[in-house]
Order: sequence, then structure tokens, then C-alpha cells
Amino acid sequence: MAVVLSNVVNAASPPWLTTSDDKIKAIVEKMTLAEKVGQMTQPDSGSVKDLDDITTLSLGSMLSGGSSDPESGNKLSDWAEFYTERQQRALKSRLGIPLIYGVDAVHGHSNLLGAVIFPHNIGLGCTRNPELVEEIARITAREVRASGIQWTFAPSVAVPRDIRWGRTYEGFSEDPALVALLGTAAVRGLQGADLSGEESVAACAKHFIGDGGTEFKPGGGEGMLDQGDVRVDEATLRAIHLSGYPDAIKAGVVTIMPSYSSWNGVKCSGNKYLLTDVLKKELGFEGFVISDYNAIDQLVSPETDDSAPESNNAAGQVRSSDYKKCIEISINAGMDMVMLTDRYKEFITLLQELVEEGKVPMSRIDDAVTRILRVKFAMGMMDAEPNLWPNKKLQSEFGSEAHRKVARQAVAESVVLLKNENALLPVRKLPRRIHVAGSGADDLGMQCGGWTIGWQGDRGDLTPGGTTILDALKEVAGNTTEISYTADGSQSDGAELGIVVVGEGPYAEMKGDRYDLALSQEDTAAVAKLKAAGLPVVVIVLSGRPMILGDVADQADAILAAWLPGTEGAGVVDVLTGAAPATGRLSFTWPRSMDQVPLGHSGEKIENPLYPFGFGLSYE
Ligand code: BGC
Repeated sequence: MAVVLSNVVNAASPPWLTTSDDKIKAIVEKMTLAEKVGQMTQPDSGSVKDLDDITTLSLGSMLSGGSSDPESGNKLSDWAEFYTERQQRALKSRLGIPLIYGVDAVHGHSNLLGAVIFPHNIGLGCTRNPELVEEIARITAREVRASGIQWTFAPSVAVPRDIRWGRTYEGFSEDPALVALLGTAAVRGLQGADLSGEESVAACAKHFIGDGGTEFKPGGGEGMLDQGDVRVDEATLRAIHLSGYPDAIKAGVVTIMPSYSSWNGVKCSGNKYLLTDVLKKELGFEGFVISDYNAIDQLVSPETDDSAPESNNAAGQVRSSDYKKCIEISINAGMDMVMLTDRYKEFITLLQELVEEGKVPMSRIDDAVTRILRVKFAMGMMDAEPNLWPNKKLQSEFGSEAHRKVARQAVAESVVLLKNENALLPVRKLPRRIHVAGSGADDLGMQCGGWTIGWQGDRGDLTPGGTTILDALKEVAGNTTEISYTADGSQSDGAELGIVVVGEGPYAEMKGDRYDLALSQEDTAAVAKLKAAGLPVVVIVLSGRPMILGDVADQADAILAAWLPGTEGAGVVDVLTGAAPATGRLSFTWPRSMDQVPLGHSGEKIENPLYPFGFGLSYE
């Protein structure tokens, strides 16, 4: 498929842009400074202990971060109630402006029990199928709106250049053009043809810009690439990392999140050239810019600030003590709304002070509020009868078979057949007995990866519904084939085929940065054991990035890269048995050894990789 990268600037009005600017102006004129700043404030629900704050501070938004679930539980009904209560509080504020409520529905409504979990973007990149990506995003939007929520911090349009980065799987590809193609499809699907529709959610292209191009931090350790520095010239930054944004803007994306990371030592969250000159002026972005989680806290040299830095989340982010300066820098740079935790009241007070002291111009505040209200108008949230409430019809479809069917198809299309000696696959007629092994064979959590139910994901049966690869094999086996299983590959005597599901346990940002991407010794030993037992061996790799296969690349008779397929493991088995064709093509170059990592930050290609970008075998 020809992939066209459009980096051409086009300031044409995005399709969602309504003619409500007069109405917005009238509202802005009525607002007090405190109300304006309230609109610009987005606390995590976990930090708002007193719900009256939503009303008295006229908060414009709230979010539930990766692990911020309703106290009552994590089912759809809990979320619908939780959201409704907060929205009702917002409507009681003086001007009654509704909250725009955000979550990380990055592969389905992935924080909720029973939601359909789709493959992470790295797998979708292998489908090369924008229509399918759009359909997945449409379904995600419907599952999100079932809970009442109307905003997701997705899609990531990162272009990861170093697969040691723990967010590699959030990117569609190492190829800027493919990222632009699929990122735009995701925006179209999430926002729908009519952004004010009951089934549409606001999308958020992230993380602007260069999140996937950071250099390895000296000393390594956790977060050794995450939130780091991108050290390339502007032409390279644009050629590689800007790719997803112009097309997403043209498709009408209403929000964009600046990256925690820096470009040549300057944090994107405080970079006026990037946020105002490039994003808003040059690219014509008219929606609003939302900061990353407490990202603005880092703007005043937090690394050197030893005045008792506190931890604000499980990742132990460092926070500056000169919060006021941080606010000044970021708002003046062009940040419109700030995502934060317990400092929300402090933020509101300090930003008002900055305006009163003339350090942040009122015109900047009015611009930010206008942008936020523009999105709320475009979404129909300001209509006389707005669609603000959890949708009953959509609730009945939440986690449905119809949604799972699309996810299963996406899984099958994302699987890449890397090796197939003696045409071992597809196994159209199952033998009398198959022995299954490996750490990932019966682990729904490992299939789903990070950003699933919790921030970092979890192992095991973390959500109801869905099928592990082992379950799916048992289903197709019926009564005629015996499926036996041991994680370590022992007790395979009498089997005629071995299937080993290897890979990585779940992780998300920071914690997923890894120096060495070798398979675990346990997985490698399981493959060796089945091989030594004389069986033909199929290896299925569950991972958020290419892994170093080592001897397994030789020992395996067939290899399938299944990425992080999500809840519908049956899609992997569809390819294994030939119920679905093998059509996936690598969205990333697959290196032979760690010496070939990283890819290079100026668009270099790896010489002689194990499998090149775009590689994938077919059955015919
Ligand atoms: C991540 C974002 C995410 C946000 C809200 C941050 O830590 O970098 O991608 O949208 O949290 O959960």
C-alpha cells in the first residue's frame, strides 16, 4: 500500500469548527478571572477529595489517570455513576459550563472491567489498514461514551526510534508516514463525522513532539529513555517526529498533548516556539493544548532543585518548588489546560496572581478559554440539551460480541508470520495432541500489556471476557485434539506439535524502559525443551516491541509476532490454523542483536536486521 506523508501546511478550518465564536466571546466576557482559570484546570479525580471544589472552582475538566478508578469499583456502572456525579457538580457552578472528562482509552476503554481490549498500536501498524483502525476507534468511542466520558488521550502519534523505550508499543510504527496514516484514521474514528454526535469522543494527538526520539540517559535505569531529550536539528525533528500532526489537525483533532520530553534541552511543555509558533500558528491548530500529567512541574530545573522534591505518582516524578515560574513559562508558551494532581488549588491561585502581576497577559488566558469552549461547543456540550450523560443504548453494546469480533479481526491482521519452515503453518488439520508452553500461553494480562485496567497493566485474568491463546486453542481443538500445557515445556511426550508463547510481562511508561530485550531464560528453555523432544515448534511472541530472539530464531520452525493483541487471543489462533490469512507486515525493523539498537535518530536504517521493516510471510 502506498503511504503518502503530507507535511504540507494547511490552515483550512477543521470540520468540527463551528461558528460559535460570538457565543464564546459573550461567555468569556461574563467570566471572572477565577472562572477562566478554573476552565484551564484539569485535576485527576483521585486528588479531588471535596467534590464541592468542582462547583466552587468552576473546573473545566477532570481526568481519571491510569490507575484512578472510582472507589465503588471498576465496572461500567461504577464509572457511569462516578462521572455523572462529577458532571452534575460542574453544571451547578455559576455559569454551568460542563466538564470535559478525560481518560486514557488507548486500546479500547482500557481502564474498565469488561471493555473490549484491542491490540496496542504497534500491532495495528502491522495491519496497514486505516479503515480497520478507524473502526476500532469508533468502537472505542462508543464504549467510552457508554460511561458518559467524552475525551480520550489518544492516539499516540509517537515515532519510536529506540525500541528500548517502554512506550514503543503505543506508536503505530517507526515509519513517520505510516504513523500519519493510522493516527489520522484513529482521530477520524474517535471523533466521528459529527463531533457533536452521541457516539463521538474528543481525540488527543500526543506527545508533541519527539517523544519517540529521546537519547539514552547516561547511567540507564528506570525511565532511561522516557521523558528524555531529543537531540536533533529542526529539519530532522520535523521529518521524523512531526509527521502525525499536520494530518491529524486537518482531520480536526481537537486536543494535543505536549510531551514531557525536551528538544535540545528545552522541555516541550514550556516551548513557545513549538506550542505557539509551530502548532497553533503554522499548523493552524485551533483546538486546545492539554499538558501531560504534572508535566509543567518540571519546567524549572527540577533535576537540580533539591528543595525537598516530592513524589507525585508511583513513578516518583520530581517536582519543582518554583511552581509559579513553571506555570508562567508553560501558559505563556501556549499551554491551554493543565493536567495535575493535588496542586490544583495552588495552580488556580498562582495563575490568577500571575495575571494580576502582568506576567501572563489576559489575552493569553482568554485565548486558552476560547479554545477550550470552542471544543465544548463543537462537541455539543453547550447545546440547550447537551448529550452529557452515559448512553443507555451504548451501554447495552459495551464489551459485546460484535465489538469483540472486530478486535479478533484486528488481532489476526496484526499478526506477522516471521518464519515458516517446511510450510508448518497454517495447521489446518490439528494433530491428535498439541503441547503448549511458555509464559504467555495462558495470560490475558500479558496479552493486553500496559494501560489495561491499571496504569502498568497486570498479569493473569485481569478483566472478564476475552480469550487467552491457550483457551482459544482448546476451543478449536474440540474433542479430536488434546491440548496439554506446562509453562516450562515439560511433559510433552506423545505430542505431535509444540507451541510456545514467549514474550514480555506488562509495563507502561518509565517502568517499561529496558536495556536488554532478550527473551527470558524460562521462555528460551521452554522452546529448547520442546525442540529437544523432537517436536516441530511454533513460537508466538507477545511483546510491545521486537525482541532479541537469539537461538530461538533458529530453533523455532515457525514464528509469529503477535504484539500485544488484547483480550481476543482467538485472533492469533485464527492465523495459526489458517482460519485467517497471514497478512501482517512489520511496523518496526526487527533487530538481530542489541548491537543493532537503537535505530538511529536521524532516520538511519539497520544494516542486515533479522527481519526488515515491512517484512511478513504469507501462506500462498
Ligand atoms: C502519560 C500520558 C497520559 C497521562 C494521563 C501521563 O503519565 O504520559 O500519555 O495521557 O499520563 O494518564
